[in-house]
Amino acid sequence: MKLKKTIVLLPGDGIGPEVTRAAANVLHECAREFQHQFTFLELPVGGAAIDKTGGPLPHETLDACRKADAIFLGAVGGPKWDSIPVGKRPETGLLELRKGLGLYVNLRPVKLIEPLRNISPLKPERIRELDIEIVRELAGGMYFGERGNVKENGVERAFDTESYSTREIERIATFAFHRAEARSRRICSVDKANVLASSQLWRRTVSAVGTVYPNVKLEHMYVDNAAMQLTLNPTQFDVMLSTNMFGDILSDAAAALVGSIGLIPSASFGSSAPLFEPIHGSAPTLAGKDAANPIGSILSATMMLRDAFGLSLEADWVEQSLVRVLNTGVRTADIAEPGKKTVGCSVFIDMLHDEMQRTFEHAEKYGWGV
Ligand code: IPM
Ligand code: MG
Repeated sequence: MKLKKTIVLLPGDGIGPEVTRAAANVLHECAREFQHQFTFLELPVGGAAIDKTGGPLPHETLDACRKADAIFLGAVGGPKWDSIPVGKRPETGLLELRKGLGLYVNLRPVKLIEPLRNISPLKPERIRELDIEIVRELAGGMYFGERGNVKENGVERAFDTESYSTREIERIATFAFHRAEARSRRICSVDKANVLASSQLWRRTVSAVGTVYPNVKLEHMYVDNAAMQLTLNPTQFDVMLSTNMFGDILSDAAAALVGSIGLIPSASFGSSAPLFEPIHGSAPTLAGKDAANPIGSILSATMMLRDAFGLSLEADWVEQSLVRVLNTGVRTADIAEPGKKTVGCSVFIDMLHDEMQRTFEHAEKYGWGV
């Protein structure tokens, strides 16, 4: 099936443009080899947009995203914009984009990549075949609650508010239960219901949604314990469901288990076009040095192919080629063993490109039909 799609690319800041090139490359190759018609539109977001237009999310960018079939975002933020107050920063562009597109689901798969098994900080008997999915609520909670600064008797106070409605919890829980139904039928919902009112409603509502899915085993866990369990025994989890804030923290912790935050992709879904982005930040210290790891970005592109366009053959092609590149021992600095030779982001992208070509030419040999 030949598809015609418009893809918006939002490279953003720091290493964002470098890793976006990796995703764009992969998508471009898929279009070329499988005769799809992908039209790419590149627009500014974050600090790059502040520099260009004065704000982190120009109307033109949001409009293009609204009309797109899928969006890819690199990363936003950096020291250049650190003195800008919360609310006008590069990160605000990303939050306004998520909100503006109604993206309330953020799916973060954390899966061991076999050739990278030995860089996990966990012992082999703990990391095993780690394969979990973090379902993070993306449009509510502390990220979007009331916040501010007040002066009380000459002392400054700042506040942020965590608040969730039943409706917001139901829709993200429903998504998580659907995911669990298609996997090993287990969900762990993470909250702080021993302290927070919003977590008590979260727990009650997730349990109520759970009654609709009697074949999925639901467990609740406090977030502090979940952080510990992720380190001690991560393979006990399958789908982990959590709030915007806890999901943000737990996904970085989970990423470290498989070796690097640079490896993890994400997909966000909601009422309009889905958005795909690696979970890492703009890594200002690596920017411009060709030292970024493009794998999180490449896997975000394969999530786009599979989950937005239904192109699983194309996604398999990229992922299998990626594993073969890693099997040859090629590593970016963040995933290299001490003393081993490393390659830059652009060489890694080129090697993947070559491997994809080889795989295509030997499609029969590798056992899948093109
Ligand atoms: C992420 C990032 C963002 C978030 C930042 C850049 C606003 O950490 O996508 O995990 O907190 O959501
Ligand atoms: Mg984060």
